[in-house]
Amino acid sequence: MAETLTTPRTLVDGFGRTISYLRISVTDRCDLRCRYCMAENMTFLPRSEVLSLEETSELADIFIERGVRKIRLTGGEPLVRSDAPKLVRMIGRHLVGGGLDELTITTNATRLARYADELADAGIRRVNVSLDSRDPETFRYVTRWGELEKTLQGIEAAKCAGLSVKINMVALKGLNDAEIVPMLRWCGDEGFDLTLIETMPLGQIDDDRHNRYLPLDRVKEKLADRFTLIPLTERTGGPARYWKVAELGAKLGLITPLTNNFCAGCNRVRITASGKIYMCLGHDDHLDLKTALRTGGRAAVDDLLDRAMVLKPERHNFEILPDDTAPAIERHMSVTGG
Ligand code: 5AD
Ligand code: SF4
Repeated sequence: MAETLTTPRTLVDGFGRTISYLRISVTDRCDLRCRYCMAENMTFLPRSEVLSLEETSELADIFIERGVRKIRLTGGEPLVRSDAPKLVRMIGRHLVGGGLDELTITTNATRLARYADELADAGIRRVNVSLDSRDPETFRYVTRWGELEKTLQGIEAAKCAGLSVKINMVALKGLNDAEIVPMLRWCGDEGFDLTLIETMPLGQIDDDRHNRYLPLDRVKEKLADRFTLIPLTERTGGPARYWKVAELGAKLGLITPLTNNFCAGCNRVRITASGKIYMCLGHDDHLDLKTALRTGGRAAVDDLLDRAMVLKPERHNFEILPDDTAPAIERHMSVTGG
């Protein structure tokens, strides 16, 4: 289908992959410090380096002109930026105009109770919420600073606002593995989908990722013993595979960048809060769209996007080495978004 819509302006990389999905990290900051994601003491971008709403929206316009159909706002935690809902409104106008099929957000839900209605009103239909545990103590431990109740209230508000909720749960050996089945049941009861994620070696953290790494293929086998997992053919151009859990009605997704590699169908690029485009989560190559926009306007951004397509690598090369002293990629997930 994508082929029939391709125009000379469409973003197609050197491996023939059409880029139709953009993730925008609107801030690298977060009000939590999940152990697999961040160190407790983090140095964030100076605010002066962060794109203004207008600049972010203009970059989104250019990507949409070049064929991007789906945008996800991420962080850090996007809602720690109090102007994030305004950005949703700015980009959301393309949903009405038909230039964009979907605008979504990934959030930790700490501020969702405040913003859910506004987000729904601006055109968001689905939210991904990070929730690794429904046990208050484990939740506090994993997030270091989190309060389970607040996150659950945020999730409830999203549901009340009519948003579809997908729970993202990072599988952490010895921390939340026993909670996977209860989480799946809860998601079934609430009408949510659940995606399990393998920890990825992004950025220096204080903990040892290797100790916590839980290969999801084994988890899937165990789930298949208890439930009927019906494979779904849908792919989102990312590393996730999906199943319908017949007994619960919930959709289960597995993101297994380490045990499986699905880069061949990759359809996405990412931009950071400071306006750098990263062609792959697993590589450090990037180009500076902010400077291009500020000095050369749209034409300069267009030229850089053409270069980005040439530079997009074929695949990531993540692996969690036995001695996890140095991460594969120095930048944290919060820089480029999940
Ligand atoms: N590995 C795997 N998942 C991560 N996330 C953040 N950092 C990592 C990491 N190093 C998750 C968050 C969120 C999603 C966007 O990515 O929990 O749900
Ligand atoms: Fe914040 Fe998400 Fe990272 Fe947790 S995983 S610290 S909520 S950005």
